[in-house]
Amino acid sequence: MRLTRKISARLSAHRRSRFAGPAVLLVALLTTGGLYVALSPASAEKTADSTSEIAKGKALFLVGCASCHGKNGEGILTERGNQYGPSLAGVGAAAVDFQVGTGRMPMAQPGSQALRKRVVYTQDEIDALGAFVASLAPGPSVPAADEYEAKTDDPEAVSRGGEFFRTNCTACHNFAGSGGALPQGKFAPSLVGVSEKHLFEAMLTGPQQMPVFSNEVLSPQDKQDIISYLKKNEDTPSYGGFTLGSIGPVAEGMFAWLTLAVVVGAGIWITSQTARSKKTKKGDVA
Ligand code: HEC
Ligand code: HEC
Repeated sequence: MRLTRKISARLSAHRRSRFAGPAVLLVALLTTGGLYVALSPASAEKTADSTSEIAKGKALFLVGCASCHGKNGEGILTERGNQYGPSLAGVGAAAVDFQVGTGRMPMAQPGSQALRKRVVYTQDEIDALGAFVASLAPGPSVPAADEYEAKTDDPEAVSRGGEFFRTNCTACHNFAGSGGALPQGKFAPSLVGVSEKHLFEAMLTGPQQMPVFSNEVLSPQDKQDIISYLKKNEDTPSYGGFTLGSIGPVAEGMFAWLTLAVVVGAGIWITSQTARSKKTKKGDVA
């Protein structure tokens, strides 16, 4: 008790001092200033960096993309009211990285489906284009490597991924991920050989006919499991023979039954053609 009283007495003595106010102010200012200096340079540099990145992206965009997507990515309508190129507000850097990174964009000419082509931009340029599009409106950003890298030697991830794949993807991409036809001349491409990053981005951004599997629908972990499953499948050697396009167990089973039916039918037909069966015909002399 006595001690606290002593300390407070001393404190109040100092408080009364002429320099107490300015000293406290100085300490407070130094602390805030120090904290600001310690915390801000990284983000300040980043803004400077990303401003020039966006400017670079915009320059590339005006040359290669604006003719279809508009100068500010707002989209262009044709006279008949069709989309020449859709608005890119909110599609995010991930969509750009996927579309340009797989060579789909810049589209050669508006058609029914943008196809994979030779990639015409360097990864640096793609990143700049992505930064520009992301600056139009917030959208999904390019995933980090540890989010999409396949874990092919984790059997649990692979089997979970297989389940997610069968529920969400086989309807269009088929059981083996080898792709399939869709109405109106469109198709879901084969997933064999697609890079892990592009697999993740396709799910995240849902190109064309494909639904968007946002991180709320399929968590980043679920997506990574699907990638692990697909990559594990690619590693698994094919044991030869007629794969039937791996269309699935029911269809393959039907094929086996049909083959069996043909074999049995042929057997019956052959036996009905023998001399013995002819002998029993009516009117024949024994
Ligand atoms: C000849 C016209 C044309 C050009 C040039 C073009 N695009 Fe496209 N773009 C389209 C059309 C049409 C679509 C919609 C169909 C599709 O998704 O394939 C599209 C779709 C996209 C999408 C997907 C949008 C979404 O909703 O996910 C992105 C991203 C994109 N373009 C970026 C670009 C970038 C970046 C460039 C320049 C490097 C570019 N495009 C050049 C016509 C074009
Ligand atoms: C409703 C049908 C449909 C479903 C369901 C679907 N996709 Fe797709 N997917 C498509 C179509 C159509 C394309 C082609 C889009 C394009 O070319 O722009 C595509 C493209 C892709 C691509 C790009 C391949 C390439 O060659 O670059 C990947 C990767 C992909 N899908 C993965 C998946 C995964 C993984 C799932 C399940 C989580 C899935 N898709 C579910 C229709 C579908």
